[in-house]
Amino acid sequence: MESSQRFSSLAFIALLAYFAFLASAELHIQPKPVKRLCRTHESITVNGQFPGPTLEVRNGDSLAITVINKAHSVLLCFWDRHGIRQLRNPWADGPEYITQCPIRPGQSYTYRFTIEDQEGTLWWHAHSRWLRATVYGALIIYPRLGSPYPFHMPKRDIPILLGEWWDRNPMDVLRQAQFTGAAANVSDAYTINGQPGDLYRCSRSETVRFPIFPGETVQLRVINAGLNQELFFSVANHQLTVVETDSAYTKPFTTSVIMIGPGQTTNVLLTANQRPGRYYMAARAYNSANAPFDNTTTTAILEYVNAPTRRGRGRGQIAPVFPVLPGFNDTATATAFTNRLRYWKRAPVPLQVDENLFFTVGLGLINCSNPNSPRCQGPNGTRFAASINNQSFVLPRRNSIMQAYYQGMPGIFTTDFPPVPPVQFDYTGNVSRGLWQPVKGTKAYKLKYKANVQIVLQDTSIVTPENHPMHLHGYQFYVVGSGFGNFNPRTDPARFNLFDPPERNTIGTPPGGWVAIRFVADNPGAWFMHCHIDSHLGWGLAMVFLVENGRGQLQSVQAPPLDLPRC
Ligand code: C2O
Repeated sequence: MESSQRFSSLAFIALLAYFAFLASAELHIQPKPVKRLCRTHESITVNGQFPGPTLEVRNGDSLAITVINKAHSVLLCFWDRHGIRQLRNPWADGPEYITQCPIRPGQSYTYRFTIEDQEGTLWWHAHSRWLRATVYGALIIYPRLGSPYPFHMPKRDIPILLGEWWDRNPMDVLRQAQFTGAAANVSDAYTINGQPGDLYRCSRSETVRFPIFPGETVQLRVINAGLNQELFFSVANHQLTVVETDSAYTKPFTTSVIMIGPGQTTNVLLTANQRPGRYYMAARAYNSANAPFDNTTTTAILEYVNAPTRRGRGRGQIAPVFPVLPGFNDTATATAFTNRLRYWKRAPVPLQVDENLFFTVGLGLINCSNPNSPRCQGPNGTRFAASINNQSFVLPRRNSIMQAYYQGMPGIFTTDFPPVPPVQFDYTGNVSRGLWQPVKGTKAYKLKYKANVQIVLQDTSIVTPENHPMHLHGYQFYVVGSGFGNFNPRTDPARFNLFDPPERNTIGTPPGGWVAIRFVADNPGAWFMHCHIDSHLGWGLAMVFLVENGRGQLQSVQAPPLDLPRC
């Protein structure tokens, strides 16, 4: 095993056979008391661990992951291997009511899939309401045996899972927001590998510490598993060399801070080349919206094994050095970081486009007939909403979209999702109130097998401009361009990077700007595209691509497994 630093025991995994082709694991979804910020909550965990176990596999492995729902009080649950391309196998994807129905309490479902040409850092999480607040873990894909990394891979590899903690049951926080129509309460803490760190009450003794040898280089696999917040991450006095994002290698570059949105992963190398000592790694919000946010800071400690100790009175460890973090609204730093990302070699970007889609993404408000109602506690007696092209996505209830599509069952969804917004307006200007209210629906957009797709994701200033981390299931895409203001179809494409654009599965819209992505629709099935900020997802910032089968079995969706949960 290349990784020696582990933050949680892997003992539970029945077997993870690194040299065999089949690896299997059991994930028991179960409640367990977890104490944070002085109080204990009955949290939903995986195998009693928070965060959940790290799954370590190799490119080419076939996996069988059985998810067993033992959480009696929780109705629904399932898991999502965020970022894994399960070719022709949407059944192993996981979002509830998109590709499957929920795994009911007492039931289980085995996700069977093969890692095809993918390596790097991904993660898994529950994809049901706000369950993923505590149900998440790292998924690490090592290259095939004997296949090299494009950079000098350090011996030690450290997963850094950034999360958000509520000092309440996260499901209650969600329920309250759904009732009132107002924004959900912000989190009470951020966490690094499940621990808030020294700056929070009752947390200091549990702060995560990473011992390091002077001169040693380690790889940090940074994952933003937080529900609702983009984060800046930095390590005091140490430079970070970015080598991978979302399981795709990058041209290495050095930075003192990274910005990472919910859903994204970033691998960095860090060399212990500073004075022997103790150094904080810290994460706190990058907040691009005009909205309340959790402004606290989570920390862990990088500890040189030869760090000096204090002598005499007040003997013990020296105080860690604190890093310089950008201001909460430092969009310039966030953008400068994202703009430096390049694919590690020439990328096979589609040069011609068959489907040219323009999607407005952003918030909205639903007017209430009785603005004084307890159910209309949003701005000026409204309810919050969010939409793509004015369509606010509603999950179906009777069946999943993929099952309905496969069985030809009508009445679950329609395929008239609009390729462009219904009206054109100055998206990032002062938008008239008449355009603030989206329409609810369950609409998908059909794509022909192997179509070359371009999507321009245009943020709007409705309610507030904001960085929306947009995530596409079933695919990795290339980020070919981005900018502030309104996308200009005449001048902006000329500046696209079609040579080495970064490959990702989640990309943030610049606040009050746009980002353009390209991919080849070579994976048939129903694939969810949504904002990875869970409060926005709940408000409807989502849509579904229905990628048609190609010719013959090898270009068509596989038959569903027999244990697929019944609706
Ligand atoms: Cu990691 Cu549908 O999300």
